[in-house]
Amino acid sequence: MMFFSTPKLIVLLVSLSLLLFSTNAAAKPLRPRLDNGLALTPPMGWNSYNHYSCSPSESIVHSNAQALVDLGLQAQGYHFVTVDCGWTLPDRTASGTMTWNATIFPSGFPALGTFLHNLGLGFGVYSDAGIQMCMTGEPAQVGSLFHEQQDATTFASWGADLLKCTLLVPLSKYDNCYSEASAGYPNTDYSPTVSPSGRYQNMSSAILATNRSIVFQICEWGVDFPSAWAPALGNSWRVTNDIIPAYRTIPRILNQVVPQTSFAGPGHWLDLDMLEVGNNIFTIPEEQTHFSLWAILKSPLVIGAALKDSATSISTESLDILLNEDVIGYNQDSLGVAASFRRRWTEEGYEVWAGNLSENRMVVAVANLQDTARSLTLNLTDVGVQTVGSLKDIWNGVTASNVETTYTAPVEAHGTILLELSNFTEAAAAPTPTFYSSASFTPTGDAVRTTCSTGLCTPVGSKIGNISPTGSASLSITAASGGSKLVDIYFCNNDIAISTSWGYGTNTRNMTIAVNDVVTRIEVPLSGKSSELFSPGLGWQDTGIFKVAIGGWQEGTNSVVVGNQGGAAGYQSYGADFVGMGIYF
Ligand SMILES: *[C@@H]1O[C@H](CO)[C@@H](O)[C@H](O)[C@H]1NC(C)=O
Ligand SMILES: *[C@@H]1O[C@H](CO)[C@@H](O)[C@H](O)[C@H]1NC(C)=O
Ligand SMILES: *[C@@H]1O[C@H](CO)[C@@H](O)[C@H](O)[C@H]1NC(C)=O
Ligand SMILES: *[C@@H]1O[C@H](CO)[C@@H](O)[C@H](O)[C@H]1NC(C)=O
Ligand SMILES: *[C@@H]1O[C@H](CO)[C@@H](O)[C@H](O)[C@H]1NC(C)=O
Ligand SMILES: *[C@@H]1O[C@H](CO)[C@@H](O)[C@H](O)[C@H]1NC(C)=O
Ligand SMILES: *[C@@H]1O[C@H](CO)[C@@H](O)[C@H](O)[C@H]1NC(C)=O
Repeated sequence: MMFFSTPKLIVLLVSLSLLLFSTNAAAKPLRPRLDNGLALTPPMGWNSYNHYSCSPSESIVHSNAQALVDLGLQAQGYHFVTVDCGWTLPDRTASGTMTWNATIFPSGFPALGTFLHNLGLGFGVYSDAGIQMCMTGEPAQVGSLFHEQQDATTFASWGADLLKCTLLVPLSKYDNCYSEASAGYPNTDYSPTVSPSGRYQNMSSAILATNRSIVFQICEWGVDFPSAWAPALGNSWRVTNDIIPAYRTIPRILNQVVPQTSFAGPGHWLDLDMLEVGNNIFTIPEEQTHFSLWAILKSPLVIGAALKDSATSISTESLDILLNEDVIGYNQDSLGVAASFRRRWTEEGYEVWAGNLSENRMVVAVANLQDTARSLTLNLTDVGVQTVGSLKDIWNGVTASNVETTYTAPVEAHGTILLELSNFTEAAAAPTPTFYSSASFTPTGDAVRTTCSTGLCTPVGSKIGNISPTGSASLSITAASGGSKLVDIYFCNNDIAISTSWGYGTNTRNMTIAVNDVVTRIEVPLSGKSSELFSPGLGWQDTGIFKVAIGGWQEGTNSVVVGNQGGAAGYQSYGADFVGMGIYF
C-alpha cells in the first residue's frame, strides 16, 4: 500500500499510468483509480441518517454500535459506524477546526472513536464539500469547503488517538450541499457551472496527506456522472439522488445504475445509497429485493435502521435479511464484478440481472415488478447459460440440480428470486442479428432526426428523437418467417430523475414497436455513460441496448413503426430516442 504526501505527486502518478496504458493497444479504456489499498470489497456498516435523519446522539450511536456486535452483524462484516449530519456546530473553533456538539456528544468524538474501536468497529465521520452541511434546519452547521486539509487532519487525529487500533477510519460520507459559489451556495444545485470533481479531488488529496487509512465515500448524488472521474478520487461514489422512504425509489435507483455497472471494481464501488431494510417502510419481500440487488451490484451495504435504541428494536425478519450469509457473500465476493441488467419484460412486469462470481459461479436475480405474488420463469439463455449442475434459490430456501433450459419459482409481490448457479454450461453463441439503422427509417409527426457528435449514437452517428404519442419512425422490413422475434433496440435516454427523485421520477422512458399494428411496449432505463452537464451529447448520445421479443411478424413485408403510442397516459409523454434495431431472424 502506498501513500502520497502531495497532490502533485498523485497527479504525476495518474498521468504516468495514463501513459503506460496508452502504449498498450489491447488495454481496456483507461480509468485512473485511487490506489489506497482499501475497500477491496464493498464497505459494510451502519449509518445514522436513514432512521435518525440529522439528529444523531452519543446514546444512539452507542446502542446501535453495541447492537451491531450483539446481533451478530459485525461478525458478518458490518464494520463501520458513521455519524451522519447533525454532529457538528454552526462555527469552527477559535483555531479553525471543526468540532462536535457537546450537548449531543458529551464524551466527544475522540472518545466515540475509542468506544467503537474497543468494540472492534471502524469510526466513520461525515462532512460536506460545501460551506455548510446538508441540513435545512437552523442553526446551519459549517462544512469543509476550503478547509479540506485541516478537517481531514482533525478527523484522522480522532482515530489516531487510538494507536493500538489498526482499524480504518472512513470519512464516510462526503456530501455536496451549499457548494456552488456561482449560484450563491444554495442547498442543492443539480446543474453547477463547474464539475464538483475539483472539490472532491481536494478532499481526496487532503486525506492521502494525513497518511491514515481512510476509506473515502463520495456523495454528490451523481451530478456530472461521477463514474467517469470518482474512481480516481474515492473508494465509492453515490450514483443517484437519495433513496427515499417509498418503494418506487428502488426501481428509480436501479434504472439509473444500468449503464454504469461496468465502472465498479475492487477499491471503487457504485454506491446505491444506504439501506432501508429494517425501517418498516417496505414489505419483507421488498426488503429482500432491495438487499439482493444492492448486494449483487456491489454497493456498499450500510444499514440505515434503528437496530436498537431506547424506543426501537429491528424486527427478526429484517435482521434475517441483513444477516443472510449467501447474499453478503455475493456482495463481498473476491471477483468484485457488479451484476448487470440483462432483460426486462415490461408488460409482464419482471426483469433479470446477473453477474459472475468467483469459483465459476454466477448470481442471478429475477425481480417481480408487479404488486401481486405469482411464479416467474428464468430462461437460462438470458444469462448465457444452457444447463446448471447446481442451483441455490436463496429466499425460497431450496436447491435444485441438473436444471435445463428454464427455472420456475414462486415470488411475492415486489419480491425477487435470487439464484446462485454453479457447475453450469454456457449457452451456444447467439446468431448474429441483422441491423437496421434509424437512418433508414422515415420520421413522421413530431419525430426528428438529429446528427450526433463524433463517435456517439453508435453505431449510427444519428438518431430519431422527439418521439411523442403522435410522432414515430417507420420502415418496411422483409422477413422469411412470421411469429415472434428477438430484437435488440438501440436507444438513448438520459432523462435523469434528479430533482424529480423526491416525487415520481423514474429514470425510464417508454417506446412502442408496432409490427403490422401488433404493439409491444418497452420501458427502457437510462443509457447515459457521460456527463449530463458537460459532455458533447450530455449523455443523450450514449447508446443502450434493450433486448425484447416482438410479435406480429409475417413472412414477407412487415410494417415496423417505432413510437410511443399511449405515451400521453404515462409519466413522460416523450419516448426514448431511437438509434436502430438488430433483429434475430
Ligand atoms: C447542539 O445540539 C442541540 C440538540 O440538537 C441543539 O439544541 C443545540 O442548539 C446544539 N448546539 C449548538 C451550539 O448548535
Ligand atoms: C482546491 O484547493 C486549492 C488549493 O487550496 C484551491 O486553490 C482550489 O480553489 C480548490 N478547488 C476547489 C474546486 O475547491
Ligand atoms: C506522511 O508520510 C510522508 C512520507 O513518509 C511524510 O513526509 C509526511 O510528513 C507524513 N505526513 C503526516 C501528516 O504525517
Ligand atoms: C463471466 O465469465 C465467463 C466465463 O469466464 C466469461 O465468458 C464472461 O465473459 C464473463 N462475463 C462477464 C460479464 O464478465
Ligand atoms: C428462451 O430464450 C430463447 C432465446 O431468446 C428463445 O429462443 C426461447 O424460446 C426461450 N424459451 C422460453 C421457454 O421462453
Ligand atoms: C455438474 O453438472 C452435471 C450436469 O449438469 C452433472 O452431471 C455433474 O455431476 C455435476 N458435477 C458436479 C461436480 O456437481
Ligand atoms: C410507460 O408506460 C406505462 C403504461 O402506460 C406507464 O404506466 C408508465 O408511466 C410509462 N413510463 C413512463 C416513463 O412514462
